[in-house]
Amino acid sequence: MTVFKQIDRTVSHRLINHGPTVLVTSRSKDGKLTNVMTAAWSTPVEMDPPRIVVLINKESYTRELILESGVFGICVPTTAFINQVYSIGHSTGRDGDKFTRYGITPALSTELQIPVIEQDCIAWLECKLIPEEHAQEKYDTFFGEVVSAAADPTVFIDNHWHFTDENKDKHSIHHLGGGNFYRCCDLMTAKQL
Ligand SMILES: Cc1cc2nc3c(=O)[nH]c(=O)nc-3n(C[C@H](O)[C@H](O)[C@H](O)COP(=O)(O)O)c2cc1C
Repeated sequence: MTVFKQIDRTVSHRLINHGPTVLVTSRSKDGKLTNVMTAAWSTPVEMDPPRIVVLINKESYTRELILESGVFGICVPTTAFINQVYSIGHSTGRDGDKFTRYGITPALSTELQIPVIEQDCIAWLECKLIPEEHAQEKYDTFFGEVVSAAADPTVFIDNHWHFTDENKDKHSIHHLGGGNFYRCCDLMTAKQL
């Protein structure tokens, strides 16, 4: 017997999906075609070597490019980019270049030459796909080894996020569903009991 109210399990991911909504960037093997999509579902899975996981749906153009090139980028957008993030997640690169459509000039990541976004974003990670065909096919789960990562030094200081009242436009955003996001974070520092 519990006192909590049962919810539809199809929305149970929202209970634990407090990580930042990210932008997944991709390119063709020759680098001539590029794309960006929104992903609310991503998480680190290993620290050393650093590995992450991101869910990439079968219909997406991003998936096609990642499978072709074997690489992808993860960018962390801020509150200032909320409308672009939402719109990028509701359109496909198959209908035209989303970087142009949303006025984004990407940079190139240092090791793998993936387009990465620094405009209104605070970090990016460049990843090599760890091919796991079963996980990809059955669960849309794409594992990546982080080859390098970069962050805005005004908010990521001494290897930690420093989200304060003074830099609210640089806080990450977190999707709650239905186009609603919240802004990260009220910092609380725990003491070990
Ligand atoms: C807020 C938000 C979060 C999303 N999260 C994911 C996700 O985690 N995984 C996914 O496959 N699609 C997600 N999507 C949908 C993709 O962004 C969408 O399918 C996109 O159009 C794919 O673009 P592409 O065809 O250019 O690759 C999300 C969309 C929005 C608006």
